[in-house]
Amino acid sequence: MLTLEQNKLLTKVGPGTPMGELMRRYWQPVAPAAELEEAPVKEVRLLSEDLVLYKDRSGSYGLIGRFCAHRRVNLAYGIPEEHGLRCMYHGWLYDETGQCTEQPFEETVRPESRFKDKIKLPGYPVQEMGGILFAYLGPLPAPLLPKWEYLLMGDNVLREMFVSELPCNWLQCQENSLDPVHLEWLHGYYGSYVAERHGGPLASFKTGSGHKKIGFDVFEHGVIKRRVWGKTTEEDEPWKVGHPVLFPNILHNYAGQGRYFLQYRVPIDDENTWHLDYICYSLPPEVEAPPQESVPYQYVSPYNAQGRLRFEDVLSQDMMVWVAQGASMDRTQERLGESDVGIILFRKLLEEQMAIVEDGGDPMAVIRDPVKNDALAIPQEGRGYIPLTANMANGARPPSATTDLIMDLLAKASQVS
Ligand code: FES
Ligand SMILES: [Fe+2]
Repeated sequence: MLTLEQNKLLTKVGPGTPMGELMRRYWQPVAPAAELEEAPVKEVRLLSEDLVLYKDRSGSYGLIGRFCAHRRVNLAYGIPEEHGLRCMYHGWLYDETGQCTEQPFEETVRPESRFKDKIKLPGYPVQEMGGILFAYLGPLPAPLLPKWEYLLMGDNVLREMFVSELPCNWLQCQENSLDPVHLEWLHGYYGSYVAERHGGPLASFKTGSGHKKIGFDVFEHGVIKRRVWGKTTEEDEPWKVGHPVLFPNILHNYAGQGRYFLQYRVPIDDENTWHLDYICYSLPPEVEAPPQESVPYQYVSPYNAQGRLRFEDVLSQDMMVWVAQGASMDRTQERLGESDVGIILFRKLLEEQMAIVEDGGDPMAVIRDPVKNDALAIPQEGRGYIPLTANMANGARPPSATTDLIMDLLAKASQVS
Protein backbone atom coordinates (compact mmCIF):
# COMPACT_ATOMS: atom_id res chain seq x y z
CA MET A 1 0.00 0.00 0.00
CA LEU A 2 1.32 3.45 -0.88
CA THR A 3 0.47 6.94 0.29
CA LEU A 4 -1.28 9.21 -2.17
CA GLU A 5 1.97 11.16 -2.56
CA GLN A 6 4.00 8.01 -3.34
CA ASN A 7 1.42 6.91 -5.88
CA LYS A 8 1.54 10.30 -7.61
CA LEU A 9 5.32 10.22 -7.63
CA LEU A 10 5.35 6.88 -9.46
CA THR A 11 2.64 7.66 -11.98
CA LYS A 12 2.88 11.33 -13.06
CA VAL A 13 5.05 11.65 -16.15
CA GLY A 14 4.68 15.25 -17.35
CA PRO A 15 7.65 17.63 -17.69
CA GLY A 16 9.16 18.54 -14.32
CA THR A 17 7.68 15.60 -12.40
CA PRO A 18 10.27 13.22 -10.86
CA MET A 19 9.01 10.20 -12.83
CA GLY A 20 8.68 12.30 -15.98
CA GLU A 21 12.30 13.40 -15.59
CA LEU A 22 13.43 9.79 -15.01
CA MET A 23 11.55 8.56 -18.10
CA ARG A 24 13.11 11.35 -20.15
CA ARG A 25 16.56 9.79 -19.59
CA TYR A 26 15.66 6.88 -21.89
CA TRP A 27 14.98 6.60 -25.60
CA GLN A 28 11.30 5.78 -26.05
CA PRO A 29 9.67 4.16 -29.11
CA VAL A 30 7.25 6.54 -30.84
CA ALA A 31 6.22 4.81 -34.09
CA PRO A 32 6.98 1.92 -36.42
CA ALA A 33 9.31 3.33 -39.10
CA ALA A 34 7.04 1.76 -41.75
CA GLU A 35 4.16 3.97 -40.60
CA LEU A 36 6.03 7.12 -41.68
CA GLU A 37 6.55 5.61 -45.13
CA GLU A 38 2.77 5.53 -45.55
CA ALA A 39 2.13 8.98 -44.08
CA PRO A 40 5.15 11.15 -43.35
CA VAL A 41 3.62 13.23 -40.53
CA LYS A 42 2.09 11.76 -37.40
CA GLU A 43 0.69 13.20 -34.18
CA VAL A 44 2.48 11.86 -31.15
CA ARG A 45 1.73 12.36 -27.49
CA LEU A 46 4.61 11.24 -25.32
CA LEU A 47 5.19 11.86 -21.61
CA SER A 48 2.26 14.32 -21.63
CA GLU A 49 3.80 16.40 -24.44
CA ASP A 50 1.89 17.04 -27.68
CA LEU A 51 4.27 16.59 -30.60
CA VAL A 52 4.44 15.76 -34.31
CA LEU A 53 6.78 13.24 -35.80
CA TYR A 54 7.78 13.66 -39.45
CA LYS A 55 10.12 12.37 -42.10
CA ASP A 56 11.34 15.08 -44.47
CA ARG A 57 12.20 14.64 -48.15
CA SER A 58 15.89 14.21 -47.37
CA GLY A 59 14.97 11.20 -45.19
CA SER A 60 15.63 12.88 -41.82
CA TYR A 61 13.23 12.44 -38.94
CA GLY A 62 12.05 15.20 -36.62
CA LEU A 63 9.89 15.26 -33.50
CA ILE A 64 8.78 18.80 -32.73
CA GLY A 65 6.08 20.66 -30.81
CA ARG A 66 2.68 19.98 -32.31
CA PHE A 67 1.40 23.57 -32.64
CA CYS A 68 2.89 26.16 -34.96
CA ALA A 69 4.37 29.09 -33.03
CA HIS A 70 2.60 31.58 -35.33
CA ARG A 71 -1.15 30.91 -35.04
CA ARG A 72 -1.03 27.57 -33.23
CA VAL A 73 -2.36 25.24 -35.91
CA ASN A 74 -1.67 21.55 -35.64
CA LEU A 75 1.45 20.72 -37.64
CA ALA A 76 0.20 17.16 -38.18
CA TYR A 77 -1.21 18.77 -41.37
CA GLY A 78 2.16 20.30 -42.26
CA ILE A 79 4.22 19.68 -45.36
CA PRO A 80 7.54 17.79 -45.16
CA GLU A 81 10.13 19.76 -47.18
CA GLU A 82 13.67 18.85 -48.24
CA HIS A 83 14.80 19.87 -44.74
CA GLY A 84 12.14 20.22 -42.09
CA LEU A 85 8.39 20.59 -41.76
CA ARG A 86 6.48 23.56 -43.20
CA CYS A 87 3.31 24.88 -41.63
CA MET A 88 0.48 24.67 -44.16
CA TYR A 89 -1.16 27.92 -42.92
CA HIS A 90 1.41 30.68 -43.73
CA GLY A 91 4.47 28.65 -44.63
CA TRP A 92 6.73 28.96 -41.62
CA LEU A 93 9.36 26.22 -41.78
CA TYR A 94 10.85 24.33 -38.81
CA ASP A 95 13.93 22.13 -38.65
CA GLU A 96 14.32 18.96 -36.55
CA THR A 97 15.45 20.97 -33.51
CA GLY A 98 12.18 22.90 -33.67
CA GLN A 99 13.99 26.05 -34.86
CA CYS A 100 12.04 28.20 -37.28
CA THR A 101 14.17 28.61 -40.42
CA GLU A 102 11.81 30.44 -42.82
CA GLN A 103 8.97 32.95 -42.49
CA PRO A 104 8.11 33.73 -46.12
CA PHE A 105 5.99 36.89 -45.73
CA GLU A 106 8.18 38.40 -42.99
CA GLU A 107 11.22 37.92 -45.21
CA THR A 108 9.40 39.42 -48.23
CA VAL A 109 8.45 42.67 -46.52
CA ARG A 110 11.55 42.94 -44.29
CA PRO A 111 14.43 41.02 -45.87
CA GLU A 112 16.65 41.94 -42.93
CA SER A 113 14.17 40.42 -40.42
CA ARG A 114 15.68 38.04 -37.84
CA PHE A 115 12.27 37.35 -36.27
CA LYS A 116 12.61 33.64 -37.14
CA ASP A 117 15.71 33.33 -34.93
CA LYS A 118 13.51 33.97 -31.91
CA ILE A 119 11.02 31.25 -32.83
CA LYS A 120 11.70 27.78 -31.58
CA LEU A 121 9.37 24.88 -30.81
CA PRO A 122 10.48 21.95 -28.67
CA GLY A 123 12.49 19.54 -30.84
CA TYR A 124 13.81 16.11 -29.88
CA PRO A 125 16.26 13.66 -31.46
CA VAL A 126 14.84 10.64 -33.30
CA GLN A 127 16.70 7.49 -34.31
CA GLU A 128 15.65 4.30 -36.04
CA MET A 129 16.63 0.82 -34.89
CA GLY A 130 15.09 -2.52 -35.82
CA GLY A 131 12.27 -0.80 -37.72
CA ILE A 132 11.22 1.27 -34.68
CA LEU A 133 11.55 5.05 -34.38
CA PHE A 134 12.81 6.08 -30.96
CA ALA A 135 12.79 9.58 -29.44
CA TYR A 136 14.74 11.11 -26.60
CA LEU A 137 13.08 13.90 -24.60
CA GLY A 138 15.77 14.43 -21.96
CA PRO A 139 18.69 16.78 -21.50
CA LEU A 140 21.44 16.70 -24.12
CA PRO A 141 23.79 15.09 -24.88
CA ALA A 142 21.49 12.12 -25.42
CA PRO A 143 22.77 8.73 -24.28
CA LEU A 144 23.17 5.94 -26.84
CA LEU A 145 20.14 4.16 -28.17
CA PRO A 146 20.52 0.70 -26.61
CA LYS A 147 21.29 -2.08 -29.07
CA TRP A 148 19.07 -4.73 -27.54
CA GLU A 149 19.88 -7.97 -29.29
CA TYR A 150 16.33 -8.62 -30.51
CA LEU A 151 16.26 -5.30 -32.37
CA LEU A 152 19.25 -6.34 -34.43
CA MET A 153 18.82 -10.10 -34.74
CA GLY A 154 20.29 -11.07 -38.05
CA ASP A 155 20.06 -14.38 -39.79
CA ASN A 156 16.89 -16.04 -40.90
CA VAL A 157 14.60 -13.93 -38.76
CA LEU A 158 11.23 -12.40 -39.59
CA ARG A 159 9.85 -9.62 -37.43
CA GLU A 160 6.60 -7.86 -36.83
CA MET A 161 5.10 -5.51 -34.29
CA PHE A 162 1.75 -4.86 -32.70
CA VAL A 163 0.84 -1.48 -31.27
CA SER A 164 -1.95 -0.92 -28.76
CA GLU A 165 -3.08 2.28 -27.14
CA LEU A 166 -4.25 1.47 -23.65
CA PRO A 167 -6.35 3.72 -21.40
CA CYS A 168 -4.21 3.14 -18.32
CA ASN A 169 -1.03 4.36 -16.67
CA TRP A 170 2.22 2.71 -17.87
CA LEU A 171 3.17 1.41 -14.41
CA GLN A 172 0.22 -0.98 -14.32
CA CYS A 173 1.66 -2.70 -17.41
CA GLN A 174 5.17 -2.79 -16.03
CA GLU A 175 4.26 -3.97 -12.53
CA ASN A 176 2.50 -6.91 -14.16
CA SER A 177 5.91 -8.04 -15.43
CA LEU A 178 7.19 -8.13 -11.83
CA ASP A 179 4.28 -10.33 -10.80
CA PRO A 180 4.94 -13.90 -12.02
CA VAL A 181 2.15 -15.54 -10.02
CA HIS A 182 -0.56 -14.13 -12.28
CA LEU A 183 0.66 -16.55 -14.93
CA GLU A 184 -1.11 -19.68 -13.70
CA TRP A 185 -4.21 -17.69 -12.74
CA LEU A 186 -4.80 -15.12 -15.48
CA HIS A 187 -3.29 -17.16 -18.31
CA GLY A 188 -4.04 -20.58 -16.80
CA TYR A 189 -7.19 -20.79 -14.76
CA TYR A 190 -8.91 -17.82 -16.39
CA GLY A 191 -7.64 -18.98 -19.78
CA SER A 192 -9.34 -22.33 -19.22
CA TYR A 193 -12.54 -20.60 -18.12
CA VAL A 194 -12.51 -18.55 -21.30
CA ALA A 195 -11.92 -21.71 -23.33
CA GLU A 196 -14.86 -23.36 -21.61
CA ARG A 197 -17.18 -20.45 -22.35
CA HIS A 198 -16.02 -19.56 -25.83
CA GLY A 199 -14.49 -22.77 -27.13
CA GLY A 200 -10.77 -23.46 -27.35
CA PRO A 201 -8.07 -23.95 -28.04
CA LEU A 202 -6.96 -20.71 -26.45
CA ALA A 203 -3.43 -19.94 -25.37
CA SER A 204 -3.12 -20.74 -21.69
CA PHE A 205 -0.78 -22.16 -19.13
CA LYS A 206 -1.68 -25.35 -17.31
CA THR A 207 -3.11 -24.54 -13.90
CA GLY A 208 -0.99 -27.26 -12.33
CA SER A 209 2.25 -25.60 -13.44
CA GLY A 210 2.09 -22.97 -10.70
CA HIS A 211 4.95 -21.12 -9.01
CA LYS A 212 6.64 -22.63 -5.94
CA LYS A 213 9.19 -19.88 -5.46
CA ILE A 214 9.89 -16.45 -6.97
CA GLY A 215 13.02 -14.29 -6.77
CA PHE A 216 14.23 -10.93 -8.10
CA ASP A 217 17.71 -9.48 -8.50
CA VAL A 218 18.69 -6.03 -9.64
CA PHE A 219 21.31 -6.07 -12.39
CA GLU A 220 22.92 -3.42 -14.54
CA HIS A 221 19.99 -3.05 -16.96
CA GLY A 222 17.01 -3.78 -14.74
CA VAL A 223 15.62 -6.66 -12.73
CA ILE A 224 16.11 -10.39 -13.30
CA LYS A 225 13.05 -12.46 -12.49
CA ARG A 226 13.53 -16.01 -11.28
CA ARG A 227 11.09 -18.78 -10.52
CA VAL A 228 10.68 -22.38 -9.57
CA TRP A 229 7.47 -23.57 -11.13
CA GLY A 230 5.76 -26.67 -12.43
CA LYS A 231 8.35 -29.43 -12.47
CA THR A 232 11.41 -27.14 -12.49
CA THR A 233 13.90 -26.83 -9.60
CA GLU A 234 16.53 -24.29 -8.62
CA GLU A 235 18.87 -26.14 -10.97
CA ASP A 236 16.82 -25.22 -14.01
CA GLU A 237 17.11 -22.08 -16.13
CA PRO A 238 13.94 -20.33 -14.96
CA TRP A 239 15.68 -19.96 -11.59
CA LYS A 240 19.36 -20.09 -12.49
CA VAL A 241 19.19 -17.66 -15.41
CA GLY A 242 15.73 -16.08 -15.29
CA HIS A 243 14.66 -13.31 -17.63
CA PRO A 244 14.72 -9.54 -17.33
CA VAL A 245 12.57 -6.52 -17.01
CA LEU A 246 14.76 -3.88 -18.65
CA PHE A 247 14.69 -0.61 -16.76
CA PRO A 248 12.45 1.25 -16.72
CA ASN A 249 9.67 0.09 -19.05
CA ILE A 250 10.58 -2.94 -21.17
CA LEU A 251 9.91 -6.66 -20.85
CA HIS A 252 12.52 -8.86 -22.55
CA ASN A 253 11.56 -12.47 -23.02
CA TYR A 254 11.80 -15.58 -25.09
CA ALA A 255 8.55 -17.44 -25.58
CA GLY A 256 10.43 -20.64 -26.47
CA GLN A 257 10.52 -22.37 -29.83
CA GLY A 258 12.00 -19.56 -31.87
CA ARG A 259 9.86 -16.62 -30.78
CA TYR A 260 11.60 -13.68 -29.11
CA PHE A 261 9.89 -10.52 -27.96
CA LEU A 262 10.31 -7.12 -26.40
CA GLN A 263 7.38 -5.21 -24.97
CA TYR A 264 7.75 -1.45 -24.48
CA ARG A 265 5.28 0.28 -22.15
CA VAL A 266 5.56 3.92 -23.21
CA PRO A 267 3.70 6.58 -21.22
CA ILE A 268 1.50 8.71 -23.49
CA ASP A 269 0.50 10.62 -20.35
CA ASP A 270 -0.60 9.83 -16.79
CA GLU A 271 -3.58 7.74 -17.92
CA ASN A 272 -2.62 6.29 -21.30
CA THR A 273 0.09 3.94 -22.55
CA TRP A 274 1.49 3.24 -26.01
CA HIS A 275 2.28 -0.47 -25.95
CA LEU A 276 4.65 -1.93 -28.51
CA ASP A 277 4.93 -5.70 -28.83
CA TYR A 278 7.99 -6.41 -30.99
CA ILE A 279 8.43 -9.99 -32.12
CA CYS A 280 11.24 -11.86 -33.86
CA TYR A 281 10.62 -15.29 -35.31
CA SER A 282 13.80 -17.26 -35.75
CA LEU A 283 13.10 -19.67 -38.59
CA PRO A 284 14.47 -23.20 -38.64
CA PRO A 285 17.43 -23.77 -40.98
CA GLU A 286 15.37 -25.64 -43.58
CA VAL A 287 13.23 -22.52 -44.08
CA GLU A 288 14.70 -19.43 -45.69
CA ALA A 289 13.30 -16.13 -44.47
CA PRO A 290 12.57 -13.81 -47.40
CA PRO A 291 14.09 -10.32 -47.01
CA GLN A 292 11.94 -7.89 -45.04
CA GLU A 293 12.41 -4.38 -46.34
CA SER A 294 10.64 -2.93 -43.36
CA VAL A 295 9.14 -4.37 -40.22
CA PRO A 296 5.36 -4.70 -40.64
CA TYR A 297 3.08 -3.37 -37.93
CA GLN A 298 -0.56 -3.51 -36.91
CA TYR A 299 -2.55 -1.40 -34.48
CA VAL A 300 -4.57 -3.69 -32.23
CA SER A 301 -7.38 -2.43 -30.01
CA PRO A 302 -7.57 -3.88 -26.51
CA TYR A 303 -11.35 -4.02 -27.05
CA ASN A 304 -13.42 -6.49 -29.06
CA ALA A 305 -16.44 -5.75 -31.27
CA GLN A 306 -18.72 -5.94 -28.23
CA GLY A 307 -16.77 -3.18 -26.50
CA ARG A 308 -15.38 -5.60 -23.90
CA LEU A 309 -11.68 -5.98 -23.23
CA ARG A 310 -10.21 -8.76 -25.36
CA PHE A 311 -9.12 -11.98 -23.64
CA GLU A 312 -8.22 -14.55 -26.33
CA ASP A 313 -4.45 -14.63 -26.02
CA VAL A 314 -1.80 -14.10 -23.38
CA LEU A 315 -1.08 -10.48 -24.25
CA SER A 316 -4.74 -9.49 -24.51
CA GLN A 317 -5.33 -11.10 -21.10
CA ASP A 318 -2.48 -9.00 -19.71
CA MET A 319 -3.90 -5.87 -21.31
CA MET A 320 -7.31 -6.73 -19.91
CA VAL A 321 -6.05 -6.64 -16.32
CA TRP A 322 -3.89 -3.54 -16.83
CA VAL A 323 -6.88 -1.60 -18.14
CA ALA A 324 -9.23 -3.21 -15.61
CA GLN A 325 -7.17 -1.66 -12.79
CA GLY A 326 -8.48 1.75 -13.90
CA ALA A 327 -6.95 4.73 -15.69
CA SER A 328 -4.50 5.23 -12.84
CA MET A 329 -4.88 2.63 -10.14
CA ASP A 330 -5.35 3.62 -6.54
CA ARG A 331 -2.34 2.09 -4.80
CA THR A 332 -3.46 3.58 -1.48
CA GLN A 333 -6.10 0.83 -1.34
CA GLU A 334 -4.14 -2.23 -2.49
CA ARG A 335 -3.05 -5.03 -0.14
CA LEU A 336 0.21 -6.60 -1.20
CA GLY A 337 1.30 -10.12 -0.28
CA GLU A 338 4.18 -12.52 -0.82
CA SER A 339 3.45 -12.68 -4.54
CA ASP A 340 4.22 -8.96 -4.79
CA VAL A 341 7.84 -8.81 -3.61
CA GLY A 342 8.96 -8.02 -7.18
CA ILE A 343 6.55 -5.09 -7.41
CA ILE A 344 7.77 -3.73 -4.07
CA LEU A 345 11.40 -4.03 -5.17
CA PHE A 346 10.66 -2.34 -8.51
CA ARG A 347 8.94 0.65 -6.85
CA LYS A 348 11.93 1.07 -4.56
CA LEU A 349 14.23 0.98 -7.55
CA LEU A 350 12.16 3.63 -9.33
CA GLU A 351 12.33 5.86 -6.24
CA GLU A 352 16.12 5.44 -5.98
CA GLN A 353 16.62 6.22 -9.65
CA MET A 354 14.34 9.28 -9.50
CA ALA A 355 16.54 10.55 -6.65
CA ILE A 356 19.69 10.02 -8.75
CA VAL A 357 18.16 12.09 -11.56
CA GLU A 358 17.16 14.81 -9.12
CA ASP A 359 20.78 14.92 -7.94
CA GLY A 360 21.91 15.44 -11.53
CA GLY A 361 23.23 11.91 -12.17
CA ASP A 362 22.62 9.32 -14.87
CA PRO A 363 20.17 6.65 -13.68
CA MET A 364 20.75 2.93 -14.23
CA ALA A 365 20.63 1.42 -17.74
CA VAL A 366 21.60 4.69 -19.40
CA ILE A 367 24.35 3.75 -21.84
CA ARG A 368 26.99 6.19 -23.04
CA ASP A 369 29.88 3.85 -23.86
CA PRO A 370 29.72 2.56 -27.47
CA VAL A 371 31.85 -0.48 -26.63
CA LYS A 372 29.37 -1.48 -23.95
CA ASN A 373 26.46 -0.81 -26.28
CA ASP A 374 27.94 -3.18 -28.85
CA ALA A 375 28.09 -5.98 -26.29
CA LEU A 376 24.92 -5.82 -24.22
CA ALA A 377 24.69 -9.18 -22.46
CA ILE A 378 21.17 -9.83 -21.24
CA PRO A 379 20.50 -12.95 -19.16
CA GLN A 380 17.63 -14.84 -20.75
CA GLU A 381 16.42 -18.31 -19.89
CA GLY A 382 15.61 -20.79 -22.64
CA ARG A 383 17.92 -19.45 -25.31
CA GLY A 384 18.99 -22.92 -26.44
CA TYR A 385 17.98 -23.20 -30.06
CA ILE A 386 14.61 -24.85 -30.55
CA PRO A 387 13.14 -24.24 -33.98
CA LEU A 388 10.06 -22.16 -34.50
CA THR A 389 6.90 -24.22 -34.55
CA ALA A 390 3.61 -23.51 -36.26
CA ASN A 391 1.97 -23.38 -32.87
CA MET A 392 4.29 -20.64 -31.67
CA ALA A 393 4.05 -18.66 -34.89
CA ASN A 394 0.30 -18.79 -34.97
CA GLY A 395 -0.94 -19.25 -31.45
CA ALA A 396 -0.43 -16.24 -29.30
CA ARG A 397 -0.99 -13.08 -31.31
CA PRO A 398 -3.65 -11.62 -33.58
CA PRO A 399 -3.55 -12.94 -37.17
CA SER A 400 -1.04 -11.15 -39.39
CA ALA A 401 0.50 -11.34 -42.85
CA THR A 402 3.81 -12.27 -41.23
CA THR A 403 2.42 -15.27 -39.36
CA ASP A 404 0.52 -16.35 -42.52
CA LEU A 405 3.80 -16.20 -44.42
CA ILE A 406 5.61 -18.19 -41.73
CA MET A 407 2.87 -20.83 -41.64
CA ASP A 408 3.19 -21.17 -45.42
CA LEU A 409 6.97 -21.48 -45.25
CA LEU A 410 6.81 -24.06 -42.44
CA ALA A 411 4.13 -26.07 -44.25
CA LYS A 412 6.15 -26.11 -47.49
CA ALA A 413 9.31 -27.15 -45.62
CA SER A 414 7.50 -30.03 -43.91
CA GLN A 415 6.20 -31.28 -47.28
CA VAL A 416 9.71 -31.23 -48.70
CA SER A 417 11.37 -32.99 -45.78
S1 FES B 1 0.00 29.30 -38.27
FE1 FES B 1 1.75 28.30 -38.94
S2 FES B 1 2.64 29.70 -40.32
FE2 FES B 1 0.90 30.70 -39.60
FE1 LIG C 1 0.91 -12.07 -18.26
